[in-house]
Amino acid sequence: MVKVISNKSEITRIPMYIEGLDDNMEGGVPEGHIVLISGSAGTMKTSITFNVLYNEALRGKISVYCSLEQSYPSIIQQIVNMNFDLTKINLIIIKDLSEIGVAMSKLKGGKGGVVIVDVGCIRKEIKDVKVADNKSWLNVVKNVVKKIKEGAGCHAFCLDSLSALYVLSRFENPRIELFYLFEFLRDLEITSFLISEAQPESGKYSEFEIEEFLCDGIIFLKLTPFRRNVVREISVVKMRSTATNNDIFSLEFKHNRFQALYGGQNPLL
Ligand SMILES: Nc1ncnc2c1ncn2[C@@H]1O[C@H](COP(=O)(O)OP(=O)(O)OP(=O)(O)O)[C@@H](O)[C@H]1O
Ligand SMILES: [Mg+2]
Repeated sequence: MVKVISNKSEITRIPMYIEGLDDNMEGGVPEGHIVLISGSAGTMKTSITFNVLYNEALRGKISVYCSLEQSYPSIIQQIVNMNFDLTKINLIIIKDLSEIGVAMSKLKGGKGGVVIVDVGCIRKEIKDVKVADNKSWLNVVKNVVKKIKEGAGCHAFCLDSLSALYVLSRFENPRIELFYLFEFLRDLEITSFLISEAQPESGKYSEFEIEEFLCDGIIFLKLTPFRRNVVREISVVKMRSTATNNDIFSLEFKHNRFQALYGGQNPLL
């Protein structure tokens, strides 16, 4: 049962580790929230989310990064190129469901870590197994997170991406099925980052739009062309129980850290 608080100071937060943005959202995302990280291709959805889990691992926390399509070598290549020092954290890869137990034993030692669950690899491993109902992949994801939560006490979870999940598990009644998925994550008392592929022109942050009402927060990433330049932009569209500055910031990755700059102004104008 989720705790009911009586004092504002009881709200603990996970920073986004983006300089200039966390100050504009009371320090970060309230723990236990479900946050959509929404944006089009190449807007650094994976990178900013991994950045949160990495920095939490440096503080001794354990998180799960569940990738449905992008392979773990590709994710690692991206983050190593961004100069993340992976020797500082426990980085565990699960590419076979039978490895969960061994993975969890590696997590016991006090050091924080990120467990990357490569569902693409798992899919290839068990492609011969007849998938009886189309909810199986959703159940695989849920079971893996639950097991790691119960076995190692992970406190944050990323699903990359919701859009890929919809392809793998056909949602016949999205309003009901998504409600139960979100309730499952809330009951786990885990902070969740759900990556959502969304085109800015569509005006939507998610596939069914219901996600936008069910979630607690939306962080939107966008590439904005201006003459011959393209600016990366970030905004907090919604964050429940948080006073946020909803301005559009430009997002930069410089000197090995993310920065949100020029709140409310287009730097190119
Ligand atoms: N230092 C850097 N190293 C690597 N990539 C960088 C760096 N700085 C910016 N990038 C950009 O990051 C982008 C990829 O980031 P990421 O994979 O996190 O995006 P994404 O939104 O998750 O993409 P996709 O839609 O393909 O999943 C690349 O397009 C690349 O231009
Ligand atoms: Mg990505």
